[in-house]
Amino acid sequence: MALRKLTVRDVDVRGRRVLVRVDFNVPLDDKGNITDDTRIRASLPTIKYLLEEGAAVILMSHLGRPKGRDPRYSLAPVAARLQQLLGPDVPVKFVSDCIGLDALDAALHLQPGEVLLLENVRFHPEEEANDPIFARQLAELADVYVNDAFGSAHRAHASTEGVTRYLPSVAGLLMERELNILGSILESPERPFVAVLGGAKISDKIGVIGNLLDRVDTLVIGGGMANTFLKALDFQVGRSLVEEDRLKDAEALVGRAELQGVRLLLPRDVVFAREVRPDAEHQVVDLRSVPEHIAVQGWRIVDIGPETAGHYGSVIREARTVFWNGPMGIFEMPPFDAGTRAVAQAMCDATRNGATTVVGGGDSVAAIEQMGLADCITHISTGGGASLEVLEGKTLPGVAALMDRPE
Ligand code: 3PG
Repeated sequence: MALRKLTVRDVDVRGRRVLVRVDFNVPLDDKGNITDDTRIRASLPTIKYLLEEGAAVILMSHLGRPKGRDPRYSLAPVAARLQQLLGPDVPVKFVSDCIGLDALDAALHLQPGEVLLLENVRFHPEEEANDPIFARQLAELADVYVNDAFGSAHRAHASTEGVTRYLPSVAGLLMERELNILGSILESPERPFVAVLGGAKISDKIGVIGNLLDRVDTLVIGGGMANTFLKALDFQVGRSLVEEDRLKDAEALVGRAELQGVRLLLPRDVVFAREVRPDAEHQVVDLRSVPEHIAVQGWRIVDIGPETAGHYGSVIREARTVFWNGPMGIFEMPPFDAGTRAVAQAMCDATRNGATTVVGGGDSVAAIEQMGLADCITHISTGGGASLEVLEGKTLPGVAALMDRPE
């Protein structure tokens, strides 16, 4: 499915200043070191393309959720990493505000072949308020706007949406790739199409499950969100996290899956732990015969069990298209990472069998990367929330605002 929006390839950028919204919302440790630069690397194709085409490239992004100006959320470390990635032939400049005289001066003096990174747009509350004056001040820095921040395209903010009112606006290469891949698995997936959903909460995923039920052959559920389904179906879940106000929704989704002929898979066995601690006493339990002490002592589900992991793995390996979002258990706390690891390995095997595999969302991506399996996944999305909204069938405001491709 081709993107129905103009892209960087459709505009003449030679000798022009191009304002590119990237998603450099990268994780930093306590000392301000970047712990994962995937999102910076993912933006390189667009940046390099624009430089090769003779543009002066002005980059803007948010980082974290600061309340006003806060040095802990400065993009300065990102400028340094970008300089390393682009090499000494491409000067990367940094300016400590995204609007105002210094930003304007730096932008106006930027030469073709040079890069300027502006400071965190969220240092101004006007960014999230999508303030038109702020958006215009950003637009004044350049001649053309490119949105390459797929991870932020579900936000209608000044740098993703407002700015498009003042500049010719097109999609970047990362944005194009993300939307084409997610669009094609939604619109014309090779079958069987399996979606694997995990993570803590069902409330975050109800919309996505609803839309996927119309499209997938099998929906595999794990992680904390499975607890709400299990409780709705009267299984004993001890003191596991359950969204009581979503029990009815879970029941309705199970009914809908049945009606539509979609296989909805829930864990058959799980790992219960006495406490959520890596060294806590834990045991694999068949959900059809949960021992009494689990309920009495209030144990909690921390992972899917080995039988379930094996079953989910074989369903994934037989698929031709797989989308995965959300871990199967508390994967950051071994030994409760086994279910998530099994799914990650099965995704990799599925790719090797010729399937299209797509992973969206922070924790599942982290699991894939920790296991060194990133290279055997067809597409790892840079957008967690954004990829879920695409699969939910929603229009992303940062995409809708870009110029349409003529029919
Ligand atoms: C993300 O990390 O999902 C994006 O960068 C969006 O960040 P936000 O949820 O703070 O808007």
